[in-house]
Amino acid sequence: MSMLLLPPSSSRSMAPPPALRSPRAPISPRTESPRRHAIARCDTSRTTPRISETEPTLAQPSAPVQGATAPLVQALKSTAAQDVSCFHFPGHNQGKAAPSSMLDLIGAGAFSHDLPELPELDDLFYPNGVILDAQNQAAQLFGSSKTWFLVNGSTCGIQAAVMATCCPGDYIVVPRNCHISVISALVLSGAVPKYIVPEYNSAWDIAGGITPSQVDKALKELEKDDKKVGAVLVTSPTYHGICSDVQCIVDVCHPLHIPVIVDEAHGAHFRFHHSFPSTAIEQGADLAVQSTHKVLNSLTQSSMLHMAGGLVDADKVSQCLQLLQSSSPSYLLLSSLDAARAQLSENAKSFDEPVAMALETRDQLMVIPGLSVLDLSCFASDFPAIDPLRVTLSASDLHLSGYEADDILEEHQIVCELVGTQAVTFAVNLGTRRQDVQKLVQCAKHLSDKYISANESRFSKHNYVCSPLDKFFVKLPPREAFFTKKRRVCMEDSLGEICGELICPYPPGIPVLIPGEVVTQDSLSYLINVRDQGMTISGAADGELNSIMYEGR
Ligand SMILES: Cc1ncc(COP(=O)(O)O)c(C=O)c1O
Repeated sequence: MSMLLLPPSSSRSMAPPPALRSPRAPISPRTESPRRHAIARCDTSRTTPRISETEPTLAQPSAPVQGATAPLVQALKSTAAQDVSCFHFPGHNQGKAAPSSMLDLIGAGAFSHDLPELPELDDLFYPNGVILDAQNQAAQLFGSSKTWFLVNGSTCGIQAAVMATCCPGDYIVVPRNCHISVISALVLSGAVPKYIVPEYNSAWDIAGGITPSQVDKALKELEKDDKKVGAVLVTSPTYHGICSDVQCIVDVCHPLHIPVIVDEAHGAHFRFHHSFPSTAIEQGADLAVQSTHKVLNSLTQSSMLHMAGGLVDADKVSQCLQLLQSSSPSYLLLSSLDAARAQLSENAKSFDEPVAMALETRDQLMVIPGLSVLDLSCFASDFPAIDPLRVTLSASDLHLSGYEADDILEEHQIVCELVGTQAVTFAVNLGTRRQDVQKLVQCAKHLSDKYISANESRFSKHNYVCSPLDKFFVKLPPREAFFTKKRRVCMEDSLGEICGELICPYPPGIPVLIPGEVVTQDSLSYLINVRDQGMTISGAADGELNSIMYEGR
């Protein structure tokens, strides 16, 4: 499930190569120590990320995406080109019976290549041909020992990772601001969460990462209570690009033989520029799930699950993926993963320009009166890095909420990735053009000029006094609460009840109530506040949040 509030945008931005750069080690499958590169601390004033020591050896530029460079793309192309009478699914029969409105929309090529699992196209769940070849090439490029292609987004990768590592009743350490897919994984697996509360900046209404000492403390508490721990899950980077120190978290977990799963949905690009933070796999994680469709260039819903080390059973992961994914995987999605991988293999320098533009944009926005840009200095914790391609802008000094700033920018045809109560986030990518980031900066200046004096006397009503993460009381594990008999109650009357559903206002995308938690006065006040601001609510049966489901036998 996508956590986007708005239609996915093509945000943009720009700037100069960061000063803190040292080359990375050559990329090779992880048989060597995960500690093969040291991490330099970020310059928080510039929000440059942690840098590794050695330069990645990305595949050299080669021929365009075809032939051996993208086996799945090539196989799909040649299979679709065969002049055969098809008596198989899908019923549009390679487009011959396609609805004309869709043909107009996406073209005949999309239909002619929308093929099922024909023998020459391999089998996603028992790959031994072109899919295996494509996945192996991806594993090599992304530095994993094994990579799975996913057709149900990172959501199914996270669910499979949790199910493969945790048996029902096992504990899993997770950040309280985890994505909704982690909660669904708890419901599916029966794992019991031990939450870590990340640092929360109320002025930005943004949560950060988690720290190794928090993980250490959580594991010690579980050990003291004689609880079995299946895994530790870290979200790194967060939606806003904040990274946790995965390497140190791994150092806490691996001596205890506890695998580390990283929700790296927003970090699929980290392998491909030396100013990006190190990837989870480079830092020793056992499983890393990446939404290739977010910052990289595959089709929406296509993702990858990478594995390294020997702590997790690869066959179990495969079994879980088979359980969770469609038995009719889309070859358009699968081949788009292969193509995205080949595109990166061909051009090792492709992120130079987006990084430069993002850094320039960040610098230019930062000096505009009344505006500020999120960086690591916004957090007291020692988070190691922030993604330079994620630019989060606040106009709260102009007394504008994130929503108001977004409305004004949208009037100028600037569409962001994410809007919050206090800030707007822009995602720069390989498609970002210089004219786009220039327009963003111009509009931001216009916003500042217009509102700097106009709003001087305005009272800002959007500052939260309490964190949505501060207090929560778990009465039932999510799985038990999910399957229990439920009743619906008017939101205002739910105080003290055990919540039977996930209530996750978006933004900031932090679950305020997770199935099994007690509805408190703080959670109610926060939810009524965000509901009245018109925020989108994920997970709840009543998206308008007039009522909630509670456990009622
Ligand atoms: C942090 C995080 N993890 C996981 C996901 C799920 O990713 P997908 O949409 O690829 O299923 C998202 C989606 O936005 C996310 O923000």
